Amino acid sequence: MENLAYKLQDEIFVMVSEVGRETNTKVFVIGGYVRDLILERTSKDVDFVVLGSGIAFARKVAAKMGSGSSAKYFKNFGTAMVRKGEWELEFVGARKESYRRDSRKPIVENGSLDDDQKRRDFTINALSISLQKKDYGNLIDPFNGLEDLKNKVIKTPLDPDITFSDDPLRMMRAIRFSTQLDFTIAKNTYEAIVRNKNRITIVSKERVLDELNLIVMSKKPSTGFKLLEETGLLKIIFPQFVDLKGVEVINKNAHKDNFYHTLQVLDNLAEKSDNLWLRWSALLHDIAKPVTKRYDPQVGWTFHGHEFIGAKMVPRIFKFLKLPMNDRMKYVQKMVMLHLRPIVLSEDHITDSAVRRLLFEAGNDIDDLMQLCEADITSKNDAKVKRYLSNFELVREKLREVEEMDRLRNWQPPVSGEIIMETFDLKPSKVVGDLKTAIREAILDGDIQNNFEEAYKYLIELATKKGMTVKKYIKTPEI
Ligand code: CTP
Repeated sequence: MENLAYKLQDEIFVMVSEVGRETNTKVFVIGGYVRDLILERTSKDVDFVVLGSGIAFARKVAAKMGSGSSAKYFKNFGTAMVRKGEWELEFVGARKESYRRDSRKPIVENGSLDDDQKRRDFTINALSISLQKKDYGNLIDPFNGLEDLKNKVIKTPLDPDITFSDDPLRMMRAIRFSTQLDFTIAKNTYEAIVRNKNRITIVSKERVLDELNLIVMSKKPSTGFKLLEETGLLKIIFPQFVDLKGVEVINKNAHKDNFYHTLQVLDNLAEKSDNLWLRWSALLHDIAKPVTKRYDPQVGWTFHGHEFIGAKMVPRIFKFLKLPMNDRMKYVQKMVMLHLRPIVLSEDHITDSAVRRLLFEAGNDIDDLMQLCEADITSKNDAKVKRYLSNFELVREKLREVEEMDRLRNWQPPVSGEIIMETFDLKPSKVVGDLKTAIREAILDGDIQNNFEEAYKYLIELATKKGMTVKKYIKTPEI
């Protein structure tokens, strides 16, 4: 039998073990912590299962740990959480029923360790380690989880139809773990996902989204999305994304498969950025391609306006998936809207005014946008990729230059609406807005410099031409 005592030398395990001895209660480390310990992935979140009451046991542990520790008890669920330093220790009584940390159902305790292990999701998550003095560190592995860990396999401990009907979210978890750990899903388990996929609809969208986000945040998210698609889950949880799939051919002209292209963009980006929202922007950047697709005999396939329509689709998709309807959504919308701009810039002669406009519109998110655009180059033609990347380098350089000169990030034009109203004795109205816009455009076009004097002079000239009279000159704005 495998003994892992050498990996459990931290004082917290020793203390928990002592409480077990003092109270004559059997206690085990179980679940993800054991899996990660063997995989040498460090973590400070530990689940303990006790043969008895998890809450009563946790009270004793908290008392032993004393100052510097805190405890929370969830009586309805029979669980307790003790924190000490970076450690988060969860205690629960062994149960006969299916295990789910986030279940709202009260727990039926009084199971044996074996009962508890077999109602868990996967063999690699059902491993436990004894903390009893006589066999401290012994691995208890009734379902060959250790072998599955070595062979990199995701498999349910029971018949997968039972494990998945206990909690259908586990189908998503199988794919999530497979993606995060680079494991394969056992044939039997995989086939059960295909069979049971429709049951995912009984799980709350929030829980589904949590798993989806973990897939999005993994090192190679395409693995998870391909599995979700192949099993049929994706069509149920995120049908808009499946619409990207497929290639149409007219007159021997094929467009690229936007599903696989998008996944490639996401993988490229995942190598560079851990920003969840930038990754969502990658997922959604071409979302409107299916609805804007046209075939033009002269030029072939076109997707005109897919960036605008795509930006319009973002709120609906966020709402559908239960993603937050706040500034994160606005950010993704902006990225989708602007995702072609640096490419267009790099293909054209790069003018100062085009760069200024882009800086003004992207604001502080300009670097993220450039990252997204670079990830969007998925051509298999190396020469093409090189050319794009070096053009992008030029765009970046130009962005730096213009930014240095004009400081346009989070910029506000130097003449405000208040100043316009005071100068011409106007009430808030459309004409004030029009004048303000005209000043902004003149600065972005490079017709005038970005300072108060020039902007104010321009305002007076423009308004006079429109027949307006100055009521009061303002020298410098009061800030
Ligand atoms: N578990 C389960 N079924 C679920 C959720 C969890 O059987 N639907 C069990 C598994 O034994 C899992 C443990 O509860 O190992 C803890 O769950 P959780 O914290 O969600 O997952 P971890 O395995 O710890 O992995 P991660 O921290 O990466 O989510």
